Amino acid sequence: MAEILELAKNNLVKKGFLDIDVDPTLDLVEAINKLKKEKNAIILAHYYQESEIQDVADYIGDSLGLSQKAESTDADMIVFAGVHFMAETAKMLNPSKKVVLPDLKAGCSLADSCPAPLFKKFKEKYPNHVVVSYINCTAELKTLTDICCTSSNAEAIINSIPKEKGIIFAPDKNLGAYLEKKTGREMILWNGACMVHEIFSHEKIVKLMTRYPDAKFIAHPECEAHILDKAHFIGSTTQLLKYTQSSPATSFIVATEAGILHQMELASPDKTFIPAPPTNNCACNDCPHMKRNTMEKLYLSMKYELPEIILEDWVIEKGRICIDRMLDISVKAGFKA
Ligand code: 13P
Ligand code: SF4
Repeated sequence: MAEILELAKNNLVKKGFLDIDVDPTLDLVEAINKLKKEKNAIILAHYYQESEIQDVADYIGDSLGLSQKAESTDADMIVFAGVHFMAETAKMLNPSKKVVLPDLKAGCSLADSCPAPLFKKFKEKYPNHVVVSYINCTAELKTLTDICCTSSNAEAIINSIPKEKGIIFAPDKNLGAYLEKKTGREMILWNGACMVHEIFSHEKIVKLMTRYPDAKFIAHPECEAHILDKAHFIGSTTQLLKYTQSSPATSFIVATEAGILHQMELASPDKTFIPAPPTNNCACNDCPHMKRNTMEKLYLSMKYELPEIILEDWVIEKGRICIDRMLDISVKAGFKA
């Protein structure tokens, strides 16, 4: 066993996870709960994780809620069931804790669309602008950012910046365009996008809305403008979930990653949730990065406390400034995890 572990550790960077066979008869829920207690660990899961992972998590939330929980936890180990930028954010906010991510290759097309060296050059063209970055970006990009934002608080963040100041918004051009409309501010937009939220078919959504005239069409602001124009409600994953709970409507067409449907169905078992259809026929509104995490990888990451998120001290110190500013504004605006 010791040899297998050594081999798996050596392959960790290449594979992204500990490639060790897990006994198929093992009760993973029980084993994970036992490890949680033994190691004083907390599992933070994003809504886009598979249902089984959500069910074993201590906290399920959107990017803002997860950051707030990561900052305030007194657990010794944060097990991040989400993607790489989220685990990095947790490490920046609580650097004395061990942060593990079940699969290091759980990345993000948005974060990848904005490499820090390219952005640095781009930013030099607008020396007097304030840089607002969506939290879906690398730790290095955060070191080049003045204020971070999530889809929950983005409008409040933009509104907190004096009107006469120019703004660069990175990396999501769709969220950026949506914010321009909401706030009336023109911004310099980085040309990035989320591969999951750009997949929805306008034509198929219109057909569904005609077939289900009483259904509310709800969408995440990472979707393209022509999709958002059709929406009855636009919001972050948490805001979409809350809307389905409080709305008198009984059916919803949901344009975001399909993992959120699990919490919607649990919260409102008598309501109907229809995932908005993608342009092709495969299940592309599943985020392939989020779905790299599995119960087996979660279990292994807790047992061996690997793969761990390690960041250089200067990245933590410089990168967290923009996140702290965001959290301060969020608390003042009343956003609670
Ligand atoms: P929120 O969690 O802020 O809704 O963002 C969704 C998302 O795409 C996370 O990767
Ligand atoms: Fe990134 Fe989009 Fe996946 Fe979220 S859903 S992690 S933004 S690729």
